[in-house]
Parts: sequence; C-alpha cells; structure tokens
Amino acid sequence: MSIKFLEKEKLFKIDTAKTSYACGIVGDEKFLLHAYYGKKISDDDVRYLTRIYENPFTPDTNDRDRGSFLDAAPFEYPTEGIGDARSGCLELETALGHRGAQLGYVGHKIYAGKPEIPGIPATYEGMAGQDKNNAGAQTLEITLEDKVTGLTAVLFYSVFDGIDAVVRSVRFENRGKEPLYLRKALSLCLELDNEDYDLITLQGSWARERQIDRNPIGYGRHEISSIRGESSHQMNPFMAVAGRNTTRTTGEIYGFSFVYSGNFTASVERSQHNSLRCLMGINPVGFSWKLDKGETFNAPEAIMVYSSEGIGTMSRTFHDLFREHLICGASRDNIYKEAPRPVLINNWEATYFEFDTDKLIAIAKEAAKSGIEMLVMDDGWFGERSSDNMSLGDWFVNEDKLKGGLKRLVDAVNAEGLKFGIWFEPEMISPDSDLYREHPDWAIAIPGRRPTLMRNQYVLDFSRKEIVDEIYSRIKNVLTSANIEYVKWDMNRGLCDMGSYALEADKQGELFHRYVLGVYDIQQRLLTDFPNLLLENCSGGGGRFDPGMLYYSPQIWCSDDTDAIERLSIQEGTAIVYPLSCMGAHVSDCPNHTVGRVTPFETRGYVALAGTFGYELDITRIPKEDREMIPGQIEMYHKYNALVRNGDYYRLTSYKENGANDSWMVVAKDKSRALITYIKVMAQPNKRSTLIKPMGLDPNASYRILCDKKVLSMEGDVLQGDTIMNCGLLIKDNNSPDMWGDFRGVLIELAKV
Ligand code: DGJ
Repeated sequence: MSIKFLEKEKLFKIDTAKTSYACGIVGDEKFLLHAYYGKKISDDDVRYLTRIYENPFTPDTNDRDRGSFLDAAPFEYPTEGIGDARSGCLELETALGHRGAQLGYVGHKIYAGKPEIPGIPATYEGMAGQDKNNAGAQTLEITLEDKVTGLTAVLFYSVFDGIDAVVRSVRFENRGKEPLYLRKALSLCLELDNEDYDLITLQGSWARERQIDRNPIGYGRHEISSIRGESSHQMNPFMAVAGRNTTRTTGEIYGFSFVYSGNFTASVERSQHNSLRCLMGINPVGFSWKLDKGETFNAPEAIMVYSSEGIGTMSRTFHDLFREHLICGASRDNIYKEAPRPVLINNWEATYFEFDTDKLIAIAKEAAKSGIEMLVMDDGWFGERSSDNMSLGDWFVNEDKLKGGLKRLVDAVNAEGLKFGIWFEPEMISPDSDLYREHPDWAIAIPGRRPTLMRNQYVLDFSRKEIVDEIYSRIKNVLTSANIEYVKWDMNRGLCDMGSYALEADKQGELFHRYVLGVYDIQQRLLTDFPNLLLENCSGGGGRFDPGMLYYSPQIWCSDDTDAIERLSIQEGTAIVYPLSCMGAHVSDCPNHTVGRVTPFETRGYVALAGTFGYELDITRIPKEDREMIPGQIEMYHKYNALVRNGDYYRLTSYKENGANDSWMVVAKDKSRALITYIKVMAQPNKRSTLIKPMGLDPNASYRILCDKKVLSMEGDVLQGDTIMNCGLLIKDNNSPDMWGDFRGVLIELAKV
C-alpha cells in the first residue's frame, strides 16, 4: 500500500497489493483528471491516460473549442453547468440562482491514518487484535477550488493495508462571501474506457430483497437509486461494472458500495466517445444543502473495489473491508466484533401481537432446553399496541401484557439461562399514540397537506434534535430498567411528504439527509451508552441493508421472507457485497408465513447457518421431530460459526441460475478447514450426479472429506487441495428417496490432515 505524488509529472498514484489508481493535474486551469484504475502497474507516469496530449482539445491550446474538452475529459470530480453535458458530481447554485462550477487543483496532503467523518459512518483504521491507532491506513486529500464562488471540495482517498479497495469521500467548504447551495454533491466518480461492460446491481422488493441483476451497458445513462429516505428494498446502494465475459472466478470487475442509509444514486453513463462514467452518492432528487460562508458539508463515503479475478474476489474484498474496518465502528470495543452472536429465538412469527409474560416465559423455558441462548421480544410490548395501528412513539411497557413489568419478565428469562433482547421502531409515530396527540408537528409532513400513511404510521422528524432527545430518553429508560442485551431496531415505512416544521424555507431540501444524520446520531448515542449492546438493524426485513447501518449493527435482518428456498437467492445476492457474519437468518415454522412452502426443518437450518442463525417460531408448538433437531442444529452452529463469520466466502452454484441446486462454501483464512453447503432444490429426472468444484483450498495440503449424508462418492477420503478443486466433488444426485426427499441439503466439511 502506498500513495505518492509525482511532483514533476503532477500525478497522484495509489497502490494496493494488487491494484493501482492514478489521477493527475492538467493544464493552466489545473483540472484534476483520472488516469487509471485497475490491475497493479509498475510505472508511475501514466499521464498520457489523462488525455493531456490530445491536442487540439485541451483548453490551454484551443480555448475556442473548450466545450469539446469539457464534454469528453475523464474528470476525477466532474461539475455541471459549464460544458460537460454528462451527468456530474457537483451541481452548485449561487445566491443569485446561477448554476455552474469549475474545480481546479489548489493543494494536497498525504498522511498515515484515516480521518473520521463527523456524524457519518465511515470505514475506520484499526483491525481486530491490532493497535487501533496504527493499523496501516493511508490517506490522500486533494483540494480543488471554484475560483468564482470560493467553494472548495476536498477529495479524500484512503487505502488499508492488505485490502484492495480505495475509499473515497468529499468535504465541501464555502470560503466565499455569499451563501451557496449544493444541489448535487456526489461522493465518487470513476471514468472507464472503451470496453463492453455489464452492470450488476441488486434489485428487489419487500420479502425478495437483493436479487442479482446483470445487464449489458448500452449508450446513455443507467441509474439505480432510492428516494424513499432509506437505502430501500428495491435497490441496494451497490453496483458493479464487469467485463462482458467476467465470471465468478475470472475477468475484470469494479465494485462500488455507498456507506449511507438514505437516498442514493448509482449510475453509469456510456458517452458518445465510448467512455463510461460511474457515479455514486446522495440522490440529488429532493436534495439541497445551504452552505453559509465558512460552513462545511461532508458527502458520505463510497468504496471502490477492483478485481481482475472475477466477482468472487471482489466480494471477498468487500467482506474483509466491512468486517475489519466498518462493522462495530460506532463502538469499537463491542464484543460482537469478534465474539459469536448468541443463538436467538424471536417471537414475531410465533405470536405476532398476541403474547404476554407467561407466553414468553413458556417459549424461553422450552428454548433453554434446546440450547437457545437469547429470547427477543418483538413488536407489541408497549403503549396500547395490539396491532400495527397504534402506539409507535409510546415507548412505555404495556403492563397488561407484561404483568409485573419488564424487569420481572427479563429476570425470569435470564433465570432460564437466556439473554434478553427487545424490539423498537424509534423513528416512527402512530397517529393513534399519546406522542402524536401531544406533538402532531413532530411527524414529517407538508403543512396543509395530510401526509401519506404507510402501515398506518408517520415518520418522526429526526432532523430535530429535541425529537431525537425525547425518543432516545424513552428508549434509554426501557434499556436501563432491566438486563437487556440486544436491540432489534426496526423501520417499517419509507419517507415522503418531506416537510419539517423546524427548517427554514431554503433548508427544506436538507430534510432527507438531516433525517439520516438524526438516525446515525441516535444509534451512536445508544452504542456509546451501551457499548456491548448487540444491535440488529431491520427495515420491514431488509429495506435498510447497507454499509451505513453496519457501522452501528454487526448484523441486519436480511428479509421478512424466512422461507429457506426464497432465502437462497436473497442470501446469494446479499453476499455479493456483504459478509455472511452480518446476514440475519432464522429457522422459521412451516408452511412458511410468506410463501406457504413446506421445507424440511433440517434444510431450513442449513440455510440459516449461512447467516447469524436463530429461530423465529413458537418452539412450544412446532412438531416434536422438529424441536428435537434444534440441539443438533445449535451444536452445528457452534461448530461452524467461526468459519462462517470469519472465513472466505465462495459461491459454487446458484439455484437462481440453474433452477436445481444452490451451493456455497467458506474457507478458513489459514485454509485449515472449509465448509460446503449444498441444497438440492429441484429433483431432476434421470439425474445421476452433480459435480461441484470447491475453491480457495490450499492446493498443496491434504484434506479429509466428510459429509453428513451418504451422498458423496469420496466420503472419508483424503485428497489433496488441487485434486479437490480441479476434479470437484461428485454428489450422487440420483433422487433416491432414501437419500433425498424434496429440498434436501448436505454439509460437507474439508479438514486439513
Ligand atoms: C418488520 C420486521 O421485519 C419483522 O421482523 C417484525 O419485527 C415486524 N416488523 C414487527 O412489526
């Protein structure tokens, strides 16, 4: 890892172990132009890629045709309004209403370490087990200035030792005399050249989040985005630009991930000259930020990962970066950065709103017998909440349901040997709540217009500190009233009717972002006061599954769809960027509450094992045979969870692609062990065997092959890593009823001998 500035050539070069990145200062106006991002290169001077030799197009030599330069140059941080007709990063408006900016280089700094971004989640220096202040990060700051208005933009680039990623953000400052308005202030631009690329994104909906979508990139602009006030079920703040022939194991790919939990845009634009401009940042739709003289604005962090070895390497780089430098950022010593998460049982699908202390204790007692480690009390314990129609905001224990109070319940659950966790939905307010009756102006709304209800609730105006203060104090009172060790933080609707009773007219466009800052502030307070709390974020399932949330919660509820087969593609898509250690996954009851499918209990366990693992069912009522399998599943979780949590993830086959089976593996970092999960979804007629090819093993080491079913020809054999990876493992997929019913899975363990 190194960052350097070539004085004479005016070129910046950033190297990681396997990648290089370069940009340079060009011309009298000191434009900052992109030169290169890709596989590591030996030479430093690649100025020719900035096009400075492409006379007659540079303004220094041909000012009369300046537009043809601006509209084609590979800008590092393009601005709108002065001649570049492609979509850019910055749209600046002056107090007189004129839009336009031109940024030129004024200075730079290169230093060890990585700065924090005030109030915004960001990757941090410091790896597990290392000196937190000396974990090998380096940062480049390049300051650009618009001479006419006095706006400066500081572009930050950071790299971490051992991680092939470049992390970027931008800080703006108004050094002029008049107020300025940022109408668009993105975090990242990357200009690529002359290739036929595909765009890979994660699309979805409630109960089918993060499905992989791959399409060729044609001319024009292609965007994914959210304007829902959260990162959303529909589009995840991730995109990748891959070579047309890139596979899981071969070819070039550029991955982009946005460390933010609100509105975002991620786009690619293929220009008339066949260049490709990739952009990522806060969605400019509905956004505006006023910068008074001397004020600053921070655009959140966007991460770039380049791999020349296919999609899998990109995924593993994101996983390492998130696990080591993002998760638990809000509480760096939180035990769950390292420790296994307790196996929990959540009562949502077990009882919905119909529960009381006795019911929860009955669940806890039965759960304790099976080795479950924590009970989570979901929605319905507060105010008058008997359905989703009321009481959000009234965070006071409902003693009709919880007779004797919360402490009595928690103590009883603890007495069974289980930890206790609780659900909140702090950002919301029900029209039928005491809080709303007292403070109707606390809901986000446009004065004079009845705001749109979703799930019969409104959103609290978290841009206002007094509201965040009140909600936080209610939450804190609950959390300090009993021994509560886990919080599930839910958010069940998006934002609209964007009006705040507290913001001035020319700051109403700040509401979306100020709201997100309020959410970050309250989660930070929570983790400061309860540093070892296990926080699980959730948004109607996986509607806010993004890197911003990972800074606060090491796990996020993946989806309300707990059907094991539906989960295969949800978890496959999620794992393209997010580590398995953060994917909330539970075994639930059948017929599945979302799709009505019946899947063997064992298969449900195998699928949940690829995430944080837990249960979401009424353990007192499920079939005895299922209940009897729980202790074995928990033993399996303890046996393999360190591998799943910390290992390298490889996708072997995809049910979404082949319609028949799904298979993934995790390999220990030291390559001593690996676990392969194979789920046979569809029985295929006259099928004999399926060959799966493990990856990531030590080619020179010998591994014993163990399988929990008699479906492997080489069960018990010892083979060398290269043999296993090249020849593959042969699974007898012959539909024998003795071996396979519908939807059966197997676990294969490879242990170094
Ligand atoms: C949506 C969540 O995803 C569910 O798990 C559950 O907590 C409900 N909300 C409760 O209202």
